Amino acid sequence: MLSRLLGSRRGARADEPPAPGAQPAPETTRTGEHAAAGAVAAPLSPLVGPTLAMPDAATLAERCRAEIARVTIALRERYPLQGLTGDHAERLLVKLAVDLEMAAWQPSAAAQEALRIIADPDGDPAALVRAIERDAALGRGLVRHAGCALYAGGTPPSTVEDAVRRLGAKGVQVAVLAGMAESVLQRTSEPYQPMAQQQWSQVAQTGPHARAMARAFGVVTQEAFLLGLVHDVGKLVLFDLLSALHAELRRDLLLPEGLVDEALELLHEPIGGLALLRWGVEVRAAWAVAHHHRRAPEPGRDPGSELLYVVERLQGALRTGRAPDVESWCREGALETPGDRVEAAVAQAVEGAG
Ligand SMILES: [Fe+2]
Ligand SMILES: [Fe+2]
Repeated sequence: MLSRLLGSRRGARADEPPAPGAQPAPETTRTGEHAAAGAVAAPLSPLVGPTLAMPDAATLAERCRAEIARVTIALRERYPLQGLTGDHAERLLVKLAVDLEMAAWQPSAAAQEALRIIADPDGDPAALVRAIERDAALGRGLVRHAGCALYAGGTPPSTVEDAVRRLGAKGVQVAVLAGMAESVLQRTSEPYQPMAQQQWSQVAQTGPHARAMARAFGVVTQEAFLLGLVHDVGKLVLFDLLSALHAELRRDLLLPEGLVDEALELLHEPIGGLALLRWGVEVRAAWAVAHHHRRAPEPGRDPGSELLYVVERLQGALRTGRAPDVESWCREGALETPGDRVEAAVAQAVEGAG
């Protein structure tokens, strides 16, 4: 699964992220036929204006909890108590309100330590190796991940140390978080497992699409890949919660039609943001995931959520065979990234997918 998620080797190293704080060089883009002819299109508009100020992790977590509570109460009102059916709806909504941050979400102590070291700019690679070696499953997953085509470069690694050296800190973070998401997926059970599995399989394309579009939005490519991979992880967590309720009740859940769909649609952003904060991901990435549908965007350029918003719109268009309507996407998402950059990003992602 992980090697599939990481996609092909193509493009993985060609667009290394710029140095932190570096001003982007004047950029040009190649669209499909231009690229074929070797012609380079006009320079892209610069990214201007301040980026959105990020809150600290505790403030973002509080905001996610408040949004989950607000939506849960609204769902309660939309799906009032109706005898037996209402009983299970009540149980689900109570579970959402009370059990959401259950201990099962926590990575293993070794994974938490690894994510903490990765988040520390002065983190010690040797300490990272030691932390991962404490968790045999984590170590095996990492070696397997580093052995995929993207990183292997000839012979696959056989030790955690070799895997960490090949992946680098960001690559290790992707591997650990993908492992976390997969462990949530594995906990889901019938009848929710197929839906959760289908949801997870869609991110096989999302990571590469986000990476292909990263530079146009001013997002570092590896961070874009990570965002694409985990942007809908809140849906997996919700399927996990439904599976847990199903196991508690030992029967199929009787829920009003539409409740699960609506809960998935309205809650996967704040639940995903909260999960990522608990997994030690940077606030900037958790924020992007918590706001990627841009339902009420705040003023200021928000590269991560703008990128994910367009990735989801593009995937919707590709799934249904509709032509990308970048102008409408920019307007409806109140994007502050210039339209020509979004056009170029979409063209590049489509080209890569073709
Ligand atoms: Fe989403
Ligand atoms: Fe999505």
